[in-house]
Amino acid sequence: ITPQDMTGKKVLITAGPTREYYDLVRFWSNPSSGKTGLALGLAAWLRGADVFLICGPISEKIVSLPGLHIYPITTAKEMQEVALKLWKSMDIGVCAAAVCDFRPEYIGDLKVKKGNKAGLTVKFANNPDILLTLGQSKRVDQKLVGFALEYENLRKEAKRKLEQKNLDLIVGNQVNITSPFGREKNTVLVLDKEGREEEWPDLPKTEIAWRLWDILLSL
Ligand code: C5P
Repeated sequence: ITPQDMTGKKVLITAGPTREYYDLVRFWSNPSSGKTGLALGLAAWLRGADVFLICGPISEKIVSLPGLHIYPITTAKEMQEVALKLWKSMDIGVCAAAVCDFRPEYIGDLKVKKGNKAGLTVKFANNPDILLTLGQSKRVDQKLVGFALEYENLRKEAKRKLEQKNLDLIVGNQVNITSPFGREKNTVLVLDKEGREEEWPDLPKTEIAWRLWDILLSL
C-alpha cells in the first residue's frame, strides 16, 4: 500500500526543457525529456500531495488526474512567471527543469531567410535563474530542491549550489560522453543541507523520485 505521507502538501515542480525562439518558427533549447520531473510529480501525487507541474514542451504523455495541476509553458520567462505566482502557497518546490540559461535575442523576421553570406549572428541574453529566485524568498516552513548537471567537480559544484541557492537538497548528475537527458535511468549524487551525502548508481528515474521524497520528508 502506498504511504499517504504527503497528504495536504502542495508541491511545485518544474520539468522539461524551455524553448527560446529567435524568429517565429525557430528556437534554442536542449533535449530534456521531462522524465525526472514527471516521475517526481507522479510519486508525490501517489503519496497524497497536491501537485503543480510547470512543464516545458515534452513528448512524454502526462496523465490527467485530479490534484495534478499542469501548467504548460514554453520559455524560461513564462516558467518563472508561473513559478513565482504559485510559490507563496507551496510547501515544497523542486526545480527539475532544464531551463535555458540564455535566450537568443528575437530577430523579428517572421522567418529568417538563408542566403546571407556572413551566416547568421545571434546575440544571447541571460535568462532569470528561477531556482535562485525561489530560494531567495523561501520561508522556514518551505523546502526547496534543485538539480545540478556538471561535467567536472560534481560534488563541489553541487555543494556550492546547495548553499548559494538556499536549498534543502540537491541532486547532482554527471554529464560525460553520455548525457542523462532522455534516459530511463540516472546515476545521482544527493546532498542535503544537514550534510548527508549519498550516491545512487544507475537507478530508474522513478526510483530516484521515490527516494528523494523519502529524504526530503525526513529533513
Ligand atoms: O546553476 P544551474 O543552472 O546549474 O542550476 C541548476 C538548477 O537550477 C536546476 O535545479 C534547474 O532547474 C534550476 N534552474 C532554474 N532556472 C534557470 C537555470 C537553472 O530554475 N534559469
